[in-house]
Amino acid sequence: MCGIVGYVSRGDQERDHGALDVVLEGLRRLEYRGYDSAGVAVLTGADGGGIASAKKAGKLSNLLGELEQHPLPNSRTGIGHTRWATHGGPTDVNAHPHLADDDRLALIHNGIIENFSELKSVLLEKGVTFRSATDTEVAAALLGDEYQAAVDVPAAQRLTVAMQRACQKLEGAFTLLAIHADLPDVVVAARRNSPLVVGLGEGENFLGSDVSGFIDYTRRAVELGQDQIVTITPDAVEITDFFGAPAEGKEYQVDWDAAAAEKDGFPSFMEKEIHEQPRAVAETLLGRTDAEGRLVLDELRIDPEQLKQVNKIIVLACGTSAYAGQVAKYAIEHWCRIPTEVELSHEFRYRDPIVDSNTLVISISQSGETMDTLMAVRYAREQGAKTLAICNTNGSTIPRESDAVLYTHAGPEIAVASTKAFLAQITAAYLLGLYLAQLRGNKFQGEIKDLLADLHKTPDKIQSVLDNEQQIRDLAVAMKDTKSVLFLGRHVGFPVAMEGALKLKELAYIHAEGFAAGELKHGPIALIEEGQPVFVVVPSPNGRDSLHAKVVSNIQEIRARGAKTIVIAEEGDEAVREFAEQVFYIPATPTLLAPLLTTVPLQIFACALASAKGYDVDQPRNLAKSVTVE
Ligand code: F6R
Repeated sequence: MCGIVGYVSRGDQERDHGALDVVLEGLRRLEYRGYDSAGVAVLTGADGGGIASAKKAGKLSNLLGELEQHPLPNSRTGIGHTRWATHGGPTDVNAHPHLADDDRLALIHNGIIENFSELKSVLLEKGVTFRSATDTEVAAALLGDEYQAAVDVPAAQRLTVAMQRACQKLEGAFTLLAIHADLPDVVVAARRNSPLVVGLGEGENFLGSDVSGFIDYTRRAVELGQDQIVTITPDAVEITDFFGAPAEGKEYQVDWDAAAAEKDGFPSFMEKEIHEQPRAVAETLLGRTDAEGRLVLDELRIDPEQLKQVNKIIVLACGTSAYAGQVAKYAIEHWCRIPTEVELSHEFRYRDPIVDSNTLVISISQSGETMDTLMAVRYAREQGAKTLAICNTNGSTIPRESDAVLYTHAGPEIAVASTKAFLAQITAAYLLGLYLAQLRGNKFQGEIKDLLADLHKTPDKIQSVLDNEQQIRDLAVAMKDTKSVLFLGRHVGFPVAMEGALKLKELAYIHAEGFAAGELKHGPIALIEEGQPVFVVVPSPNGRDSLHAKVVSNIQEIRARGAKTIVIAEEGDEAVREFAEQVFYIPATPTLLAPLLTTVPLQIFACALASAKGYDVDQPRNLAKSVTVE
């Protein structure tokens, strides 16, 4: 996830704004979308003019410092980018814009180009040279190549047609914005699976990842459809599809203030991030399979032969990330038949763990900076283990100090309590488990393909859970004075139960505990009294063994003692109805993948209940987003 802004104006009116000012202001508002680097490019004038650009790793303030020392002209046309690194670390050279066509074309990008390595090979053969490790520079070079090839096209449409032709060759998710020195008052943009909005002005027009990119200047916006190209000039906005056929956008009036615009109209970053989960999962899956449906995790930087020798896995993480680790254990052991332990990072090195060169230590961390996990990873390396990080923050310390890394592509998580990063971590763990199974031949390629197909269906299923959120919100409001809530689950439902309890504790400051449903009768059932609310995560009735029947028995045990049971169950599971106060249905999915769906109502519940109590869900008391002390 990155932030992008584009601006073009006539430059002949008093109320025109300078391109550099508009773009920098837009970047300031969009910085929440990524802060690994920032960059701008402006056109320096008609006929014989060129492109001037600046980019800097780190926060926008670094770019502003650079611009103070080496100012750029405040011209009529410009683009700007704030990066959340995916391909290529967060360095100056990997920052956007990327230049092509003898530095007469500048391009910025949000998303992932899946087929960048094939395209790069073709361009290398044509003699193109590359400066960065990004997929974006490949898109820039491709656009430059298409621009050169479009000699048959009238000059005014050449960049638009080149963009159409380039987009026909690109796979993946992308929003692209480009300017060319030949066209002093044109910005061309394209969108597939990544956000892009047009802002309409008088004698000036705008582009942004969302309306906060231009909210200070106009409230008239146009939403673009999938696979569309838009060309903005000071007085016109023209939309086509990728093949040049005219298309229409949807105009609307923005009635949010600037702060709400950053949250996309949601009352909090947490709500926004909960609703971004379909995208977080989809982007984590993107670009990780080849044309034959085989998993390709090139970025792992670890010798496949060494991975084949692994005879034990230890997953290290804290808090929510550790619950993702517990889900990983169920999946990896089942698919790969490698013994897998999950350990809280801060406990690991104090218990004299048994680790050797055939042990794979997988750390899971959203921030990549959690000190407990970093120390545990260092210790594991010292003991000779191979270390692999599942991480959401490109270039952070834990992946840098690990032998291998698999990035989640959830985008920046601003709310302190983790939501979309959790689902992305589970997704990455599934990919890793299936990759290990593929490498070691534990599963037939056909089975892996089927599981991947199921995984690719989950973003739509998460969306359908979100579409039905009102029922759980109403329940949360009705339960706002509750003093204690219990959560039960079995198998992969157990870590989901613990995550549900953690969310409620940290957001609503209510006593909450998650238990393995089978453990209840060994003690915790004593807590059940008349009216005690208990959430139960019920496995699919079509799943393995007698899991479903066992959980239904557990529900009956607590109901008999007065519990008020709230059940998360699979669509069509009518058997649970008679034992539940309320049932929330989720779409059917294979048991091991269910946490991607069953977690979502529990997140919504905690968030809505805390909001009903008037608490700040983005910054709960006593907590910090990244815990950099032991
Ligand atoms: C809970 C939460 C924390 C983190 C934990 C690890 O909502 O966010 O429990 O999961 O502090 O943080 P990372 O994943 O950054 O290592």
